[in-house]
Amino acid sequence: MAEKIMNLKGRSFLTLKDYTPEEIEYLIDLAKDLKTKKKQGITGNSLKGKNIALIFEKPSTRTRCAFTVGCIDEGGHPEYLGKDDIQLGYKESVEDTARVLGRMFDGIEFRGFKQDTVEKLAKYSGVPVWNGLTDLDHPTQILADFLTLKEQFGTLKGLHLVYVGDGRNNMANSLMIGSAKLGINFTVLSPESLWTDEVLVAECQEYNKTSGGTITITDNIDAVKGADAVYTDVWCSMGEEALAGERIALLKPYQVNTELMNAVGTEKTVFLHCLPAVKSYEVTEEVFEAHADVIFDEAENRMHTIKAVMVATLGN
Ligand code: CP
Repeated sequence: MAEKIMNLKGRSFLTLKDYTPEEIEYLIDLAKDLKTKKKQGITGNSLKGKNIALIFEKPSTRTRCAFTVGCIDEGGHPEYLGKDDIQLGYKESVEDTARVLGRMFDGIEFRGFKQDTVEKLAKYSGVPVWNGLTDLDHPTQILADFLTLKEQFGTLKGLHLVYVGDGRNNMANSLMIGSAKLGINFTVLSPESLWTDEVLVAECQEYNKTSGGTITITDNIDAVKGADAVYTDVWCSMGEEALAGERIALLKPYQVNTELMNAVGTEKTVFLHCLPAVKSYEVTEEVFEAHADVIFDEAENRMHTIKAVMVATLGN
């Protein structure tokens, strides 16, 4: 149960940097409650009378469906605004679109390229804005990942999470922030040219002084030993397709395959993937299918956690 009621009303959700460890734990626990209720056939009316804009500059399955279903489950109305539906940033400034949408909608989700765009939407709309992925950050994904880890291990603090692959992408960034906030020991296993931005690492090390978490960045595969969870993401993020050839060559030694999972050396280790997966590249079919139950729990948890964010920041 999310025993403590926290007042997050009116807050945007742009990055986990803006949230305290207690607030993040609260959102995860609220999602757990909402999940239990949904399984019992109980939905709410927390968003009754609320209209929510869903701006997508990039394609999405999980994030779009999670916001849509989560909103409708709570009695709200979601409106999808794809990249060809509005003039965001090319015929109308982000500031002006934000001021228009803020007068018509009660909350705005944004998925797109720039973190600056989601920040401007929050600044100028006057309503809660939720980050559904930018090139820098994917904070709603982390709530789903951590709910899944909590379901598997009962706790988050002290877990060892190893992210394997492109250490500079939005998933590596967001997992590092979330882990540092909650005291998870986080390892980035990646070729040196793809190591996480040093400024972000330094910022997260500051969070670790309070949470007790650690950060290790390495290109040594032995770093997976003893991991509670191994995580990977696609080798080419959206918009990086032209780099596919060189990225595959660079990351091939970091594929999550049976050999790598055997090197972990424990039976209890889970494998997570934010999806969509490009099987036979960042993960083999064999490893993916062996861990499919947890991976699809993680995908389902996008909906419960995104619903929790909307309910906590906008709900009645
Ligand atoms: N993990 C994730 O963001 O999935 P979608 O791209 O399908 O939204």
